[in-house]
Amino acid sequence: MKNMPDLDKIVSLAKRRGFIFPSFEIYGGSAGFFDYGPHGLTLKNNVKQIWWKQFVSGREDVYGIDSVIVTKKEVFEASGHARGFADMLTECEKCQRRFRVDHLADTKKCPECGGKLGEARQFYMMLETHIGAAEDEASLAYLRPETAQGIFTNFKNIVDSFHPSLPFGIAQIGKAFRNEIAPRDFLFRLREIEQMEVEYFIKPGDWKESFEMWRKEMQKFIASLGIDTNKIFELEIEEADRAHYSKRTIDFEFDFPFGKKELYGLAYRTDYDLSAHEKASGADLRYTDPESGDKFIPHVIEPSLGIDRTILAILCSAYVEDELGKEKRVFLKLKPQIAPVKVAVFPLVSNKENIVSKARELYKNLKEKISGVAWDDNGNIGKRYRRQDEIGTPWCVTIDYQTLEDKTVTVRDRDTGEQIRKKEKELEKYFSDKLS
Ligand code: GAP
Repeated sequence: MKNMPDLDKIVSLAKRRGFIFPSFEIYGGSAGFFDYGPHGLTLKNNVKQIWWKQFVSGREDVYGIDSVIVTKKEVFEASGHARGFADMLTECEKCQRRFRVDHLADTKKCPECGGKLGEARQFYMMLETHIGAAEDEASLAYLRPETAQGIFTNFKNIVDSFHPSLPFGIAQIGKAFRNEIAPRDFLFRLREIEQMEVEYFIKPGDWKESFEMWRKEMQKFIASLGIDTNKIFELEIEEADRAHYSKRTIDFEFDFPFGKKELYGLAYRTDYDLSAHEKASGADLRYTDPESGDKFIPHVIEPSLGIDRTILAILCSAYVEDELGKEKRVFLKLKPQIAPVKVAVFPLVSNKENIVSKARELYKNLKEKISGVAWDDNGNIGKRYRRQDEIGTPWCVTIDYQTLEDKTVTVRDRDTGEQIRKKEKELEKYFSDKLS
């Protein structure tokens, strides 16, 4: 039986089992910041690898880069973020709490204490820093709020080094920072995030076709991670609600426990960014058509995917409470391809030298061949199964007395709890086939 997931239970499991911790918790934490523990990091790396393979290395027309985070202010002045990346904010005159105006049902009354709310004003969301010793206007810089601008500022470098023909993309995975007024809902609204973005450069007349192509790629990616596709909704964004650079945007929404909210965005950014950077920098950012010799600024389709929201959607999709052998249990029904641990190896008992050394040998051999093999000899078998279920380990292998006699082991399936006996020498192929 699959329940509607409860966000508190997911947050608690994520912390208890080493996926995600509130940052600087020993100092009281800070809203909108979370650290990834060992299992969360592996899950995140698995997601990034799948994205990179599908969106970059598995294609011929996308170039991967890794640009800097600290960015000269000129870049965001040109892109429009320095003026436009802001929310309307209001402050309660009584309790001094701040709220986003678009999150309020009543813009006059504080939802916390009932006090009077002040005039709405703009709140700029980019985090600032300074480059060099002086802290003045000239040294002002920003932590990028999206990875996209690092791609636009490298457009000319890729064209000059690789001479790609249109259409082609430039992609990167990296951190971005937003000083959100109201960070909330665990990994949903953070101040430090990680994004996976492609800027796909096209001839202006081809934008509809490319938009559809990337829409399908995003759908395929979502399904490949095991995100519940019944909870995905594609929402056409009205002109008034689109970002300043976009002529068309579709949000891929996910039905999170706190409501249907944006998971990813797909936008037609026109030639807005390259034209703005050409104007501000003076660099020639035009593309020369090799056949006609025409020079023009390419247009852009942008699939933009936040990793943290991906992890949250995965956890919400995978969280299951059921009963196994008349006992209640919680498990993460993660796709084996993204599970942080694929196979856990146990000795049936931890005080019998011959069983432990046999299990160690098998563990070592499997670990060399398959990534994501873990050792667990802590507590009784039942406890080990529960622990592995909670981190989403698809298979547990137990070495017992029979192993010493006939070289077979038990393989237990996470979802059904069923156990089968397998020959030791068949294990590597058995798991490799299931993971391919
Ligand atoms: N380059 C386009 C861009 O950054 P966006 O809609 O502002 O567009 C893209 O962000 C994606 O980044 C979102 O769909 C979401 O997955 C993620 N994201 C944005 N702000 C976030 C936040 N405060 N916390 C977590 N993820 C966020």
